[in-house]
Amino acid sequence: MAVDLLLGLQWGDEGKGKIVDVLTKNYDIIARFQGGPNAGHTLEFDGIKHVLHTIPSGIFHDNAINVVGNGVVIDPVIFKKELDNLKKFDLDIKSKLLISRKAHLILPTHRLLDAASEASKGKAKIGSTLKGIGPTYMDKTGRNGMRIGDLELDNWKDKYRALADKHETMIDFHNVDIQYDLQELETEFCNAIKELKELTFIDSEEYLYQAQKEGKKILAEGAQGSLLDIDFGTYPYVTSSNTTAAGACTGLGVPPGNIGGVFGIFKAYTTRVGSGPFPTELEDEIGETMGRVGNEFGATTGRPRRCGWLDLVALKYAVRINGVSELMMMKADVLSGFKTIKICTAYKYKGEKVSHLPYNIEAKNVTPVYKEMKGWEKDLTKMTKADQLPETLNDYIDYLEEELEIPIKIVSVGPDRKQTIHR
Ligand code: GDP
Ligand code: IMO
Ligand code: MG
Repeated sequence: MAVDLLLGLQWGDEGKGKIVDVLTKNYDIIARFQGGPNAGHTLEFDGIKHVLHTIPSGIFHDNAINVVGNGVVIDPVIFKKELDNLKKFDLDIKSKLLISRKAHLILPTHRLLDAASEASKGKAKIGSTLKGIGPTYMDKTGRNGMRIGDLELDNWKDKYRALADKHETMIDFHNVDIQYDLQELETEFCNAIKELKELTFIDSEEYLYQAQKEGKKILAEGAQGSLLDIDFGTYPYVTSSNTTAAGACTGLGVPPGNIGGVFGIFKAYTTRVGSGPFPTELEDEIGETMGRVGNEFGATTGRPRRCGWLDLVALKYAVRINGVSELMMMKADVLSGFKTIKICTAYKYKGEKVSHLPYNIEAKNVTPVYKEMKGWEKDLTKMTKADQLPETLNDYIDYLEEELEIPIKIVSVGPDRKQTIHR
């Protein structure tokens, strides 16, 4: 039985949380495969808005088990806050939420190292969420990290101490002014670990193997977006994990041949939060309108997201790298009212027109070439069926499907679960 995969095709915040929540009724297991609390996944239903960072977005459904996979990095302090937020919803967390023993732990000093590293970079900073993601993955690949499974050992505190002490030396090395009270942070960390240890730790690759064997339906949930991938994103302005399809194999232990549908999510326009190149960025009234109407503020940091037109060059790149089999277009409602909609179909790169994504897409190297299409005036937010969509929006969808050669199966017209149109 195949494992379906859902991931973001842009710079994150495409609406992955919303769609995972919508699709969960069709699955037995939702398994998050990479990233950590740098993610902010928003779900809206019954008039309540929920933001999840580490916990998979299937958690509100009774039919599904949620697995935090080995590729994820977990900050016990943020995890505890997420659990606290869920307490009022009477969910059976102990049996519905399973955590991989191989997932790595974010220590308080990882967060401090992230801050020190960013401060030392000055203007060249990544614009990290400062959740300790980079330093934790560095310890993972450097073979120094601490994992969830270590918490089951009697001497985990010794391991912790050695690593935290090493981090303190590294923080000093950055020679930047960072104020912190490590003792206070450690008390908070230890309290959070106590709560984390109440949950169920599993050998998730074995659990998922058995589930596949039994024919269970599994959906792998990605975080961030393809252009933030450590290998294929706009390096160095990326996150520290593989956000693309292959990340689901390493982040869960699912063999490549078992991947079924690859669902790629994109917004009808583009956003980016943090630093780094963004060819179609609009630093004008149009970009400001997209941000305001789309409520484009980071779900994790609250920072305003940069906005711009849809970048088809970048989207094609992401579709190919991931082997996307179905597309989902989000936030079509946000573009309602624009007389003209633009799509970037190529770049002018070093004087030549190119339609692939070049190595360096900084503003000084690339200028977007746009195609213009007629906008749609109508409010889409009350629409529930594909045949209600305005003709000019259908033209936009048809054009994208033709260019991307993949069907757009869902059009999202608002943040709520119900504002989802299947085609
Ligand atoms: P994720 O990180 O991919 O899960 O996305 P985020 O939750 O960070 O950001 C998506 C934002 O857009 C959230 O505030 C969602 O509630 C909201 N959203 C999702 N789909 C739609 C949509 O179709 N229309 C509008 N207006 N908002 C949406
Ligand atoms: P979701 O899952 C949008 C961005 C940060 C920064 C860069 C590196 O909600 O789509 P990091 O904290 O990983 O070291 O930051 O990546 N970033 C995201 N942008 N959505 C996210 O997650 C992001 N996670 C990280 O803003 O530019
Ligand atoms: Mg987000």
